[in-house]
Amino acid sequence: MTEAKIHPPSAEFVKHAHIDAAKYDEMYARSVDDPEGFWGEAAERLDWFRKPTKVKNTTFDYHNVSIKWFEDGELNVSVNCVDRHLATRGDQVAIIWEADDPNVTRHITYKELAVNVNKFANIYHELGVKRGDRVVLYMPMIPEAAYAMLACTRIGAVHSIVFAGFSPEALASRVNDSKAALIVTADEAPRGGRNTPLKANVDKAREITGPVKTLVVERTGGDVHMEEGVDIGYTAMFEKASDTCEPEVMNAEDPLFILYTSGSTGTPKGVLHTTGGYLLFAAITHEYTFDYHDGDIYWCTADVGWVTGHSYIVYGPLANGATTLMFEGVPTYPDVGRFWQVIEKHKVNQFYTAPTAIRALMRHGPEPVERYDMSSLKVLGSVGEPINPEAWEWYNEVVGKGKCPIVDTWWQTETGGHMMTPLPGAHATKPGAAMKPFFGVQPVVLDATTGKEIDETECEGVLCIKDSWPGQMRTVFGNHERFINTYFQDYKGYYFSGDGCRRDADGDYWITGRVDDVINVSGHRMGTAEVESALVAHAKVAEAAVVGFPHALKGQGIYCYVTLMEGVPYTDELRDELVGWVRKEIGPIAKPDFIQWAPGLPKTRSGKIMRRILRKIAENDFGALGDTSTLADPGVVDDLIDNRMNK
Ligand code: WTA
Repeated sequence: MTEAKIHPPSAEFVKHAHIDAAKYDEMYARSVDDPEGFWGEAAERLDWFRKPTKVKNTTFDYHNVSIKWFEDGELNVSVNCVDRHLATRGDQVAIIWEADDPNVTRHITYKELAVNVNKFANIYHELGVKRGDRVVLYMPMIPEAAYAMLACTRIGAVHSIVFAGFSPEALASRVNDSKAALIVTADEAPRGGRNTPLKANVDKAREITGPVKTLVVERTGGDVHMEEGVDIGYTAMFEKASDTCEPEVMNAEDPLFILYTSGSTGTPKGVLHTTGGYLLFAAITHEYTFDYHDGDIYWCTADVGWVTGHSYIVYGPLANGATTLMFEGVPTYPDVGRFWQVIEKHKVNQFYTAPTAIRALMRHGPEPVERYDMSSLKVLGSVGEPINPEAWEWYNEVVGKGKCPIVDTWWQTETGGHMMTPLPGAHATKPGAAMKPFFGVQPVVLDATTGKEIDETECEGVLCIKDSWPGQMRTVFGNHERFINTYFQDYKGYYFSGDGCRRDADGDYWITGRVDDVINVSGHRMGTAEVESALVAHAKVAEAAVVGFPHALKGQGIYCYVTLMEGVPYTDELRDELVGWVRKEIGPIAKPDFIQWAPGLPKTRSGKIMRRILRKIAENDFGALGDTSTLADPGVVDDLIDNRMNK
């Protein structure tokens, strides 16, 4: 591979940046040589009721994985994100809300945020939610979603956000798994000019979960069914709620939130993050990665249903006293200039989005961008999937006018915050490279077969992390064994990310994509096992195998091989029906791109499906199928190839 073009930051940018190259080197060295000292000092950026005297107590030992940071410290997240800013910046805008409708905007100051969060916390009290209880949020991108999150932290409840694009079935399984005491939702969620019926989805989910109490925020005022004694309207409660609520004193290791995410096997896992380490890591990465300065307007286009929304719309920015923009809509409504219009309107300084959005917008050429004034932009960010160099260059030239460093941030739901990224004033960037580890993060590249660390600078292998960092997940909710088996079993002594990576001759890191059965569709993580189990839940399906394949817009698409029950005819109508079925079972993001009929699947003699072969066929790469001699019936491969070519 030829080495990419290198883009250094301008001297002017470096001059004003928090971290330049020398400072990065010095701070990084200290963060790994003396993690106690580095993180002990860093923790002073938070307000503690009781300052921690212990910093790090962690082990990746397979038999005994345990991760504790600041274990005797006490704090409250809402105090850090709201109260402590009141004295210095009470009248500063905390949240700019840009509605789906381009004519509707709200500005919420820190003072107003405090009132809203306290009232929301008192509503929880009124509804009987107690410290440690789980609250499921199934919300549109409205400020009330942030209030609902922060209010949980105020009373020590644990939120579990379910992305509003998930189906009632997916919602129900998460409500059940977390044994939620309350659901918070809205009547409807406007997106792209259409309303998603959130409350009606909750009603359907409750047919599975039973009657879970539900607080309904009146977003559109649409007509929804309110069940006596189970459903509670938000506005009426809000009006009578007191605006002061004492914050709970939480231990640094008390649970903060659960977020379900897909893995290579089984149902989604409840990733559990705790209070002190997570907040510190979200805050410090937000400040340094985006080079956030006081007074900047910062916009992350993610949804609070994903970890990016947790760490980089709500917790990181608000802990730093930032102004964070929350956007309810989609990049293409009312037209493909919407992102750029919002940047001009609110004079956005840092803009953080996903490659899939960039690819979708670059198809429309530079004109929709050029209609708007982009001069406020200072830093551009990318997250969620590898960014292809074409999209990177377009982002750089057309959006950033060549003057905004691009931070390509590699991280995961499990890591809580950025793990590898260039720091904009410290590193020259390379299109498609995640570049350097953040402070305290020790990436290693392992040989996939031997599990040994590769010492050569230039190499490729699986990406693991050698030691803990404060934002690391602590466990899988209710299943510590699954936590250990998923992340610490394959490569003993390391955290295994599930990603592959390459280290170039300069020692910079490039993420090459997942090495497990997780696929990345438009920056959203999807377990192939989840799609398979949705397919086999259909009465006519006997067996299914799902793989990812390269997709120009989505990064990866969903390719399904389906074997029908004996005697069921393979028809186009049934194929369409199955596409709709998966969409309904999981949600629109899981909609299959292709269903290929597979009267037989390639299996080993022990019955294991050989996905490697299925991936190659899906990619139309028939020359490189590798060894098929271990198959029980090698003939099925030829049939699948014939089928594929005839489509
Ligand atoms: C992928 C999203 C390449 C990766 C924050 C990871 C990336 C998974 C990048 C986590 C990036 C995320 N470059 N790949 N900059 N960022 N990924 O949990 O495969 O939704 O393991 O967290 O997304 O997805 P998750």
